[in-house]
Amino acid sequence: MRPKIHAHFAMTADGKISTKYLTPSQFTSTADKARIGEIRARHDAILAGRGTVAADTMSMRLSSEILRATRIKQGLPPEPLRVVISNAGKIDPSWKIFQHIGSPIVILSTIRMTQKLRAALAPLCDLHLYESPTVPLPAALGMLRAEYGVKSLVCEGGGALLRSLAAADLLDEIHLTLAPVLFGGAAAPTLTGLPGDFLPKPLAFRLAKMEALGDECLLHFKRKNIRRKIDPHSRTT
Ligand SMILES: NC(=O)c1ccc[n+]([C@@H]2O[C@H](COP(=O)([O-])OP(=O)(O)OC[C@H]3O[C@@H](n4cnc5c(N)ncnc54)[C@H](OP(=O)(O)O)[C@@H]3O)[C@@H](O)[C@H]2O)c1
Repeated sequence: MRPKIHAHFAMTADGKISTKYLTPSQFTSTADKARIGEIRARHDAILAGRGTVAADTMSMRLSSEILRATRIKQGLPPEPLRVVISNAGKIDPSWKIFQHIGSPIVILSTIRMTQKLRAALAPLCDLHLYESPTVPLPAALGMLRAEYGVKSLVCEGGGALLRSLAAADLLDEIHLTLAPVLFGGAAAPTLTGLPGDFLPKPLAFRLAKMEALGDECLLHFKRKNIRRKIDPHSRTT
């Protein structure tokens, strides 16, 4: 059994999640940034790819005292588990995430990680190294549920990780902040990473909620239960 998987992203009106230089995604309002904490607080774990943790210098913490206190009242740990994923195991022990004492950190990676890094990271986090060139997502997610009791997690990016979750049909819900800004750029990533191949199959969602927040639009999509077939090449809507 795997956790329920939510994704939470900010996106420009032209569908970009970052600039072509992969600079931190700080193009939404202060109010939207506060929402990041609210969404984190609802989940047992936060998941991010190696690229995002490095580019956005993430701590993956729940900084709001109120949100931490609410979780404690609910019988939950003060902060969600922090999970970082990397196939190649290029995790830098000097990253901000390791400077913040908070919830435990779990690294999902493979035996491609060097022995030197394994030794440096062992005191800082739980290392789960799979004996395959890439992390087997369903097994790794199942392990989070079985060993850490993660029933729901929120993936905060980036696009490469979201693409792999979508390709394996492992996405249940998407929270999207649509920002009134255009970036352009063929080399700027979208929700599913750099423009490239189609997903193995299109994934259909339904709109569960839509709300305006200042100039931004907050969208909440849920995966459709009926997996109807969609032809990505069809011109009809
Ligand atoms: N607008 C937003 O809401 C938002 C959200 C998040 C990120 N971003 C932006 O997106 C950019 C980063 O994009 P990105 O695509 O490089 O980020 P990413 O998905 O966080 O990082 C890519 C790396 O993560 C690892 N990875 C991804 N999927 C994996 C999987 N299924 N199994 C194992 N490892 C996996 C791989 O690491 P290895 O190469 O080490 O194997 C991969 O190279 C940044 O500019 C960031 O600011 C924007």
